[in-house]
Amino acid sequence: MFKLLFSFFLIVFFFLVLSIIWRNNARKYISSSTVASAYDAWTQDKLLERLWGEHIHLGFYPSGKKNIDFRKAKVQFVHELVKWSGLDKLPQGSRILDVGCGIGGSSRILAKYYGFNVTGITISPSQVKRARELTPHGLNCNFQVMDALDLKFEDGSFDAVWSVEAGAHMKDKTRFADEMLRILRPGGYFALADWNSRDLGSNPPSFFEKLVLKQLLEQWVHPNFISINEFSNILKTNENSSGRVISENWNSYTNPSWYDSIIEGIRRPLEILSLGPFAIVKSVREIPTILLMNWAFRKGLMEFGVYKCRG
Ligand SMILES: C[S@@+](CC[C@H](N)C(=O)[O-])C[C@H]1O[C@@H](n2cnc3c(N)ncnc32)[C@H](O)[C@@H]1O
Repeated sequence: MFKLLFSFFLIVFFFLVLSIIWRNNARKYISSSTVASAYDAWTQDKLLERLWGEHIHLGFYPSGKKNIDFRKAKVQFVHELVKWSGLDKLPQGSRILDVGCGIGGSSRILAKYYGFNVTGITISPSQVKRARELTPHGLNCNFQVMDALDLKFEDGSFDAVWSVEAGAHMKDKTRFADEMLRILRPGGYFALADWNSRDLGSNPPSFFEKLVLKQLLEQWVHPNFISINEFSNILKTNENSSGRVISENWNSYTNPSWYDSIIEGIRRPLEILSLGPFAIVKSVREIPTILLMNWAFRKGLMEFGVYKCRG
């Protein structure tokens, strides 16, 4: 009896300590600088890249089932978004801006397979450094540190704007859209994918859902989430968009990514172990957030929105 009680308290104590570490190390959004520091740290410790490769986004699973490798699913995602948004209709040499480019996974595919001339921008200096290291000499792809809310480009200077899973980090979504559509030339192509909440105004979250949303915001430097409809309306009413905005919810294609992102650690244990014992703690620390994300996307509290329009 004593042994049983002791084990019970030990387990409770273990989870208590874990949850304190989790809460105290939350990465709350304060400004763009907090986003930059978080991505600098994620890039420097190499964990994310070792585990998930050069793409920091979800994969595309055609049948909605876990039937292809996570890394292949990420590459497939890029090709699917290109096809869906019509970017493949642009001729080689077209100028593309990749907003929130990470370490350049999408940018390199756009340059290599479609022959585009790609500029990638991110708020994280470490990501720019790593993106440059990963880019083969001669590929038409360059990277710069820049805030998406203050783009240093002339109006209409790109034939297409591409942005994958960066918008959830932007506090001012209207300014985010304004800046991207300002630098898009008239008739140019716009393709964006992002994490959205369901429409919380018409379908308010329960007490538990509020707690989950709070964690999803605070753990991965997100200031706020808005719904697919809300972001579509922002795009539609922008003076530089053609007004014809098409959006879809790709939850069914992308949801298998969440479990897959955890399984990658089991499939490739050496990738983590070779980074030292601290890397194991760091990777375990991300699991609760990944599981909460999985729950929220499966229940429809979160939605994977894709958007296309013309300049
Ligand atoms: C989830 S990652 C996606 C990276 C990349 N698009 C990919 O799919 O691999 C989010 C990216 O948005 C960038 N980001 C966040 N806030 C930004 C801002 N205000 N300006 C520029 N980039 C930003 C981050 O630095 C990071 O590169």
